[in-house]
Amino acid sequence: MIRVDLPRFGRFDAWRAAARDLASARVAPEAVSWTDPDASADLFGSEPPPPPGHHPVTATQDFLTLARTVSSHSDPERWSLLYAALMRAQEDRGWLENPADPMLVRLNRMVRSVRRDIHKMHAFVRFHELPAEGPRRRFGAWFEPEHPIIEAGAPFFAKRFADMDWLIATPEGTARFDGAAIAYDPPAPRPDLPPDASHDLWQTYFANIFNPARIKTNAMRSEMPVKYWKNLPETRLIPEMLADAPRRVQAMREAGASEAPAFAPRITARIRQRPDEAVPDTLAQAASQAARCTRCDLCHAATQTVWGQGDPQAALMIVGEVPGDQEDLAGRPFVGPAGQLLRQTMQQAGLDPARAWLTNAVKHFRFTPRGKRRIHQTPDRSHVDQCRWWLDLERRLVAPRLTVALGATAAFALTGNRQPLTARRGTIETALEGGPVLISWHPSLILRLPPDRAPAALSELRADLSRAAELVA
Ligand code: URA
Repeated sequence: MIRVDLPRFGRFDAWRAAARDLASARVAPEAVSWTDPDASADLFGSEPPPPPGHHPVTATQDFLTLARTVSSHSDPERWSLLYAALMRAQEDRGWLENPADPMLVRLNRMVRSVRRDIHKMHAFVRFHELPAEGPRRRFGAWFEPEHPIIEAGAPFFAKRFADMDWLIATPEGTARFDGAAIAYDPPAPRPDLPPDASHDLWQTYFANIFNPARIKTNAMRSEMPVKYWKNLPETRLIPEMLADAPRRVQAMREAGASEAPAFAPRITARIRQRPDEAVPDTLAQAASQAARCTRCDLCHAATQTVWGQGDPQAALMIVGEVPGDQEDLAGRPFVGPAGQLLRQTMQQAGLDPARAWLTNAVKHFRFTPRGKRRIHQTPDRSHVDQCRWWLDLERRLVAPRLTVALGATAAFALTGNRQPLTARRGTIETALEGGPVLISWHPSLILRLPPDRAPAALSELRADLSRAAELVA
């Protein structure tokens, strides 16, 4: 029996080179024993591989992509299975086109399992900040994948977190990134990772997206399988939140929906009788005029105008979409769940919310009543166009050095550009009235994303806010 020893890292390339040579000598699959570094030595496999033969060996791109993915599976038979598949492809080029072929069915199942595992790694790695050893920040994480996917999963992090040094330790080895390249080390005991302040943010995020009235534990376990929980800071809250859910649902039922106070129509009627006034030249005058705004129909149903809040001389202005239910009742922006997420993320990014000016593109709550509840609605273009008068005035009076647009409505109100945010997030555009506008995600979008997509968007919002902090420093 011919024995091929595979290295710990770069195993796919090693397999590919050996398989090509063996196939060129038409060595039968059952004559080869493939050995992983930690596998016990095969008693029968002792002969070294023969020299390459003269038969041409071909493999399509599709096959190589499939083989590379399968090579990250934990099944010890994967190498011999792949070699058998390669040999088969030499005789029958079309077999990869037959989805019912049992060998292909097995390989495709392995592909799906590996892809799922890589996807979970990208969603569930949680970094801890480590003491810096040079000018760059350093982070470490521990992750336990189902398959040996470290080499397949790590490049994603080098792209996403190119500005920091990091290591991801797993039971099959450690990936280290130093800003230039990823290096891999053999397995080591689980590192001792210090507590990380950002883990509170994960908990806040998780507590905010948890809706006690919509618990689906099976869906939750399928999105976030229990085996990953022990390394996820946010999952510590789950037992308590599940136990408290019936009480919270009952409290929600009893509280009913928030409604405008009974005196609101009287006040609206009174303020509509006011004559036109001069253009305000202080923020206080602007706030008092905006309180009487009837530029669009949203003033009829909203409780009050939600004017901006914060430091009137702020270097940074943050613009959201529209006040929500809680902001409408409180008369202050960003006090509900999205606002809490924004404020915590700002703090994580080194920004004090009280030293910024927080406001919205549209200043009256837009909703549709459903039973006793008021369901948030995105403002129309006409609302944004009418309210831009206030936003421009606010920017003139605060005169921030940088404005951050949270979400598509704010981005449109500020820049007039209605293109989707996917390609624009993280970029700086120019406001219609001049001045730089940094585009980012709205925190309420992050609260609505599925758990496997939200963490990345939250990191991006935090990265954008950190950049804003640097730009106004
Ligand atoms: N979402 C916003 O856009 N603004 C707020 O004030 C609250 C939630």
